[in-house]
Amino acid sequence: MRKMRQAFVGLLLLLLGGGGVVLEAVHARADSVMHRYVGVETCEVCHSAKRIGDQFDAWAGSPHARAYADLTTPEARAIADRLHVADPTRDGRCLSCHVTAYGKPLPEVLSTFRRTDGVQCESCHGPGEDYAHFSVMISPKKSKRAGVVIPDETTCKTCHNPSSPTYKGFDYHAALRMIAHPVPAETKRETLEMGDEK
Ligand code: HEC
Ligand code: HEC
Ligand code: HEC
Ligand code: HEC
Repeated sequence: MRKMRQAFVGLLLLLLGGGGVVLEAVHARADSVMHRYVGVETCEVCHSAKRIGDQFDAWAGSPHARAYADLTTPEARAIADRLHVADPTRDGRCLSCHVTAYGKPLPEVLSTFRRTDGVQCESCHGPGEDYAHFSVMISPKKSKRAGVVIPDETTCKTCHNPSSPTYKGFDYHAALRMIAHPVPAETKRETLEMGDEK
């Protein structure tokens, strides 16, 4: 009987020990985790509310929302001809800057994502699978842990640089004003009270 009990305790310890290993594995994953792209419609659900600043509408009216569609214009055709690109809507020499998540393997892109939506929120803010949830978003700390990026000039310059066939320089502050989409200060205050940081 005692032997059985010892065996049972041993098994329990093994399970607990094993559990520890699993937990550690989960933590390790949280640090180096692969966040997947969800696409702009997922952000639209919350970020089209006036109260939060309607970032969706600001984006939808910006050139970034047209970035893929503009690859079919006569102007794009002329640029493509000059560079011997047969189809700009399929060629990495154009898509790398005109869509989100270019070159990412399929497992990193969820089925809600559409490349035709051009340069989407996640081009600048990082793939949203793990942060695009209310309980995470109301906390800047949790959002950051879940992969939110607050972009800066370096982010813009991954596309706004001399490798762009139409590049004529890039003034960060002027460009930022053209795509501004702030959260109203009052909403921000209320949200921070709801979240875990006061
Ligand atoms: C369930 C609703 C919801 C969804 C879905 C959602 N958000 Fe949010 N998001 C919020 C709320 C609420 C805030 C906090 C706003 C504030 O500062 O008051 C927020 C804040 C943010 C911030 C600022 C974070 C910070 O640390 O200051 C960014 C950037 C953002 N969202 C981007 C996105 C993007 C990109 C998507 C889609 C991939 C998305 N959100 C999806 C509700 C949402
Ligand atoms: C290095 C990133 C990058 C690459 C590669 C790129 N573009 Fe662009 N494209 C941009 C940026 C950024 C702009 C905005 C203007 C600027 O600063 O060049 C732009 C603007 C454009 C415009 C003007 C849209 C308008 O009407 O205002 C067209 C057309 C265009 N690109 C077509 C192409 C085609 C065709 C290719 C491939 C042969 C291509 N681009 C490759 C980044 C890029
Ligand atoms: C071209 C890059 C870019 C795209 C695309 C973009 N953002 Fe942003 N976003 C920024 C930058 C840069 C800031 C920080 C602005 C600043 O420093 O004031 C920001 C800030 C924010 C904030 C925080 C604003 C605040 O006042 O704290 C939210 C929320 C947000 N973005 C949501 C979105 C959503 C939702 C989308 C898509 C519908 C989107 N963004 C698309 C670059 C982008
Ligand atoms: C993934 C690539 C990419 C990133 C990152 C990016 N852009 Fe763009 N941006 C584009 C493309 C492509 C266009 C041209 C779209 C069109 O007109 O078809 C553009 C156009 C613009 C325009 C209008 C054209 C111009 O140059 O005057 C502004 C303003 C702009 N971007 C601001 C920004 C800012 C600010 C950031 C960083 C916070 C940023 N972009 C990050 C790809 C990008």
